[in-house]
Amino acid sequence: MSEIVVIGAGYVGLTSSVCLAHLGHNVTCVDIDSNKVDLLNRGEVPIYEARLPELLQEGQGKESLRFTTELEAAVSASEFIFLCLPTPQEPDGNADISAVVSVMNQICPTLAPGSIIINKSTVPIGTSAQLIQAIGRTDISLVSNPEFLREGVAVTDFLQPDRILIGASDREAAEKVAGLYQAIDAPVIHVDLASAETIKYATNSFLATKVSFVNALAAVCEAVGADIESVTRGLGSDQRIGSRFLQPGPGWGGSCFPKDMEALITTASAAGYEFDLLRAVVKANEQQFDRLVAKIEDLVTGDLSNSTIGVLGLTFKAHTDDMRNSPALEIVQRLASKGCTIKAYDPMVKNEKGLPTTFALAPTIEEAVRASDIAVILTEWPDFNRANWAAMRDTMKAPRVLDGRNILDRSQMLEMGYDYQDLGRL
Ligand SMILES: NC(=O)c1ccc[n+]([C@@H]2O[C@H](COP(=O)([O-])OP(=O)(O)OC[C@H]3O[C@@H](n4cnc5c(N)ncnc54)[C@H](O)[C@@H]3O)[C@@H](O)[C@H]2O)c1
Repeated sequence: MSEIVVIGAGYVGLTSSVCLAHLGHNVTCVDIDSNKVDLLNRGEVPIYEARLPELLQEGQGKESLRFTTELEAAVSASEFIFLCLPTPQEPDGNADISAVVSVMNQICPTLAPGSIIINKSTVPIGTSAQLIQAIGRTDISLVSNPEFLREGVAVTDFLQPDRILIGASDREAAEKVAGLYQAIDAPVIHVDLASAETIKYATNSFLATKVSFVNALAAVCEAVGADIESVTRGLGSDQRIGSRFLQPGPGWGGSCFPKDMEALITTASAAGYEFDLLRAVVKANEQQFDRLVAKIEDLVTGDLSNSTIGVLGLTFKAHTDDMRNSPALEIVQRLASKGCTIKAYDPMVKNEKGLPTTFALAPTIEEAVRASDIAVILTEWPDFNRANWAAMRDTMKAPRVLDGRNILDRSQMLEMGYDYQDLGRL
C-alpha cells in the first residue's frame, strides 16, 4: 500500500482517487473547490459517472480515501503526488498549464526527498522537461502518466485500460509508478517524457480524425446512394482499421478532443511543422455542425425563424453529464441564431445554468417534442431509442425527425409516417 495524493477532484482526479483506493492504496484527494470537497466528504459525487458512488463509499468505508483543501499538509506526507488539473485551451490554441505550474510551485518546497510527481493532466509536448528544470530539486522526480479514460465508463477504463503509459527520464521512478498499478492487468509502456506527452495528443487527434472521416463518409453515402452501416461494417472488419469510432454523429466535441487538437496543431507549428491534416479535420468538424443545421432546414423546408425545434440530448455524449464543448450545444447555438424556438431535453441536464439563454429545457422527451416542427436527436441516450415515437407523432406540429446519432430504427420510423432522416443510412 502506498501513500498517494491526487490533486484535482474532477473527472480524472476523482476517478483516479477512488480507483487507486480500490487498488489498495491510501489516497488523499485535494481540490481548491471547498464545496466539492465538502460534498465528497459527505459521500456525495458531484458528477455523473458510473461506479463512482460505489467506489467512493468503499474507499471512505475502509478509511483509505479522504478529501481536503489542505494542499501542503497532504503532499508533505506522501511519496506519490498525482496532478489531475485542468489544462483548458487558451485563445491562441495553446493549452493553459497555469494550474499545473501554480500547484508545482506550491508543492515543490514542501515535498519530502524521494517524492514522485505523476502528471496525468494533458500538457503540451515538452512541458514535463520544463517543469523538471523549474523544480530545481534533484531529490524529487516527475513522471508523465497520461490518462486515456473515457467519460461515461471512466472507472472501467481506469481499472481495465488498454495500456498504462509511463514517460520518464528516471527509470527507477518510472518503475515505482508502474508498481502502483501492479494489480491492473494491462501492458505498461515505458517511454521518454516527450513521447508520452505526444502519445496522448496523438491518440485524441487520431480518434477525432476517425470520427470526422466517418462523418464525411456518411455524407458520401447519402450522395451516392450507399449505406453507411454496411460500409462501416465492411470497413471496420479490416483489423488495420477496427470498428470502433466509426459511428457517424453530429461532430466530435467534449472537454478534450477540441483543445487537444488545437494544442497539437499549435505545438507542431511552433516547432516548425504545419499539421494541415489536423487543421482540415477541425474544419470538417465545423462543417459537420453546419451540415446538421442544413439538414434540419431542408426537412423543415426553409425558413427556420418561425420553427420550434425539439432537441433531444445536450451532453457531448451519452452516459455523462458533461456539456463542455458539446456538439449538441454547437448545433443549438446555430439554430438559435436563426431565430428558432428551441425546447431541449436531456436526462442529465436539469437546469439552465451555463446554457445559451435562447432555449428552454423541457422536463420530458414528450414535452420537448410536443408541438415542435421537428425532433432532432443530438446525443445517443438510450432513452431516445426507447421513447414511444408512435404516440409522440400526433403531438408534433409535423412528424419530422433528424436522427443525428443514427439510433432509431429507420424502417420503423418511416412506417410510422415520419419524415425521417439520419446520417447516411439507406
Ligand atoms: N475528462 C476526461 O475525459 C479526460 C480524459 C483524459 C485526460 N484528461 C485531462 O486530465 C486533466 C483534468 O481533466 P478533468 O476533465 O478531470 O478536469 P475537471 O475540470 O473535471 O477537474 C479539474 C479539477 O481540478 C480542480 N483544480 C483546479 N485548480 C486547482 C488547484 N490549483 N488545486 C487543486 N485543485 C484544482 C478543479 O476544482 C476541478 O475539480 C486535463 O488536462 C484533461 O485534458 C481528461
